[in-house]
Amino acid sequence: MRHFLTLNDISKDEILDILQIAKDIKKEALNKEYKPYLKDQFLAMIFEKSSTRTRVSFEVGMQQLGGKALFLSNKDIQLGRGEPIKDTARVLGGMVDMIMARVYKQSDLEELAKFSNLPVINGLSDDFHPVQLMADLLTLDELGVDITSMKVAYVGDGNNMTNSWLMAASKLGFELRVATPKGYEAPKWVVDIALQNAKQSGAIIKIGNDPKEAINSADVVTTDTWVSMGQEDEKAKRVAEFNGFCVDKDMMNLAAPKAKFLHCLPAYRGYEVSEDIFELHADEIFAEAHNRLHAQKGVMVWCDRMRNE
Ligand code: CP
Ligand code: NVA
Repeated sequence: MRHFLTLNDISKDEILDILQIAKDIKKEALNKEYKPYLKDQFLAMIFEKSSTRTRVSFEVGMQQLGGKALFLSNKDIQLGRGEPIKDTARVLGGMVDMIMARVYKQSDLEELAKFSNLPVINGLSDDFHPVQLMADLLTLDELGVDITSMKVAYVGDGNNMTNSWLMAASKLGFELRVATPKGYEAPKWVVDIALQNAKQSGAIIKIGNDPKEAINSADVVTTDTWVSMGQEDEKAKRVAEFNGFCVDKDMMNLAAPKAKFLHCLPAYRGYEVSEDIFELHADEIFAEAHNRLHAQKGVMVWCDRMRNE
């Protein structure tokens, strides 16, 4: 059985396989053909944090695949009142077929996987957001970008999105330049994994603090909120310290001609991205959001196919 907790657990070929499954199922869905790949399966969706895209994409996705999804907010289930993860996992393990969870701690996902004996999908943790990356890669591929040789600039906070881009680049072999303010770099342990993977894949990973240097001639520019869920108390300090990291027209002008701009959303205009750049690239950004549906179907179908591996 395979889980989908971080792209570091998935090989390049497997990432490409999942994208192919997503593309095939998307093509069918665009023709209003919904094949029951996961007929009668139940997906438990645990949410310790808010969500729009992740919840809707998995819930609609599971239904379109012939199954059903259960929305389990930790405000409503006993987990939120202190029932241990490992007990929740063992209960769900006898009742549903797959788990998707959005949690704070990555280790909670590992515990869910260990004790439920079901495929577990990371719907975002403090450390990683791998299902978002699958939608991002699908979108870039559809936009005609070669996802194995592109140059991507990530500008902003060294957070779960940065970490996921680091895993994606280091597995697929593309060039990733990360620019964060000093003190907000991606964690060393994640960068070390990426550098290690890069030795095999040939990826070029550059870590720095200069957004202009990172964006220079990039094919793709991406960013994320400066204040992730759970960091709300740090907002004022962060906004001050991220001065100079807003992706605006002057910054985008440094990128390659026709460079793409992605944002996982929600976006905070005037902070990590300017209003005009957001709107100029709105078609790409909302294609990315819509691709959550198709990419998440690819991940679920892949996890189902790998049940006996
Ligand atoms: N990008 C993303 O995961 O959005 P939600 O928080 O709305 O799920
Ligand atoms: N880094 C953001 C991503 C939201 C989808 C957060 O964790 O809140």
